Amino acid sequence: MNVKKIREDFPILNSKKPIIYFDNACMSLKPRQVIEKINEYYNEYPACVGRSNHRIGRIASEEYNNTRSIIKKFINAREEKEIIFTRNTTEGLNILSKTLDYDLIITTDKEHNSNHVPWLMSGKKREILKTEQDKVDTSIEEQLKDILAKNKNNKILISIVHTSNLDGTTINPEKIIKIAHENNALVVLDAAQSITHKQINVKKLDVDFIAFSGHKILGPTGTGVLYGKKELLEKLKNNYTGGDTVKDTFYDKVEFEEIPQKFEAGLQDYAGFIGLGEAIKYLQKYINDIESHQTKLNKILTEGLKEHVKIIGPKNPELRSGIFNFTSKINHHELSVILDNYANIMIRSGRHCVHSWYNDHNIEGSARASVYLYNTEEEAKTFVDKMKEILK
Ligand code: ALA
Repeated sequence: MNVKKIREDFPILNSKKPIIYFDNACMSLKPRQVIEKINEYYNEYPACVGRSNHRIGRIASEEYNNTRSIIKKFINAREEKEIIFTRNTTEGLNILSKTLDYDLIITTDKEHNSNHVPWLMSGKKREILKTEQDKVDTSIEEQLKDILAKNKNNKILISIVHTSNLDGTTINPEKIIKIAHENNALVVLDAAQSITHKQINVKKLDVDFIAFSGHKILGPTGTGVLYGKKELLEKLKNNYTGGDTVKDTFYDKVEFEEIPQKFEAGLQDYAGFIGLGEAIKYLQKYINDIESHQTKLNKILTEGLKEHVKIIGPKNPELRSGIFNFTSKINHHELSVILDNYANIMIRSGRHCVHSWYNDHNIEGSARASVYLYNTEEEAKTFVDKMKEILK
């Protein structure tokens, strides 16, 4: 992976006052190819998709539908109709929480709010698997087997974070899915973080649903994907209805579209999804090299700072992908502002949308540096040096 060349594609990294951008777990930067593709829609074919038969309407439809085909290939879905366009991971998980038929939902204690609050609000029976902080967790599989055995008469859904945005650890989804299916339970993978650095193969995994966002994978904000097995999606009711979800309507009845259209109500963010297709094409070129690159940088951060800060998650950076989340003697919010003002380094501070975990662990918040494919070893070393100066 030629990082120097990749960096040339990101306008913000080539500005007069370049930044060190270490807030990738929240939002990735966008390459010019994606920005140009979004502009292409607005400049050249800013028309309605799927309803206008004129020339620019047809181009817009073709480009928009092409994104579904790019995503299908990217995650190896069986059919394009298994790809539902959403606004983000949160919307995907909300669709599932409100339309699936289940009476017990199992999550972990490390879910971000999108994979926690919708289930909390569902009012259904819940079980929360306890993860351990200092190692890769295998105990959740044992806990899961136990819960499944005790709830044989329930319709069970497991919705679980694949790679954690809190500490960067990744679960073994194959094992969880196997255990779940042996017990007639369904599995949702929250792939918001894992999709950024892992080639996810839904067919091979045999996972029932996954949800992810476009904004973390070099794509536009306000775009996301919900994948589901066709036979499962077909059984779901649509939560939102209206234009584009219907084949026909009468004053007293409606005939709904098939999947995925029945879930995509109203005029969509066409430019955004066309841009998302371009982002995934870009990501696909590097996806197999990203995780080892992140680990290399995370090793520099960890080695350089492990005596100076308290790391959240395993000590071993090889288990934390691109995430370096920590507390130090400086308040996390103040530290992020100092890093910005003093060193031009952008990190995130707070509870990283995992408030429940912070509350449970009595930690007010933390500072998180997260690296991606365009970050360099020099940037990681600069971060270490500046942090040491600031802490001193
Ligand atoms: N946006 C959340 C984060 O920064 C999920 O990790």
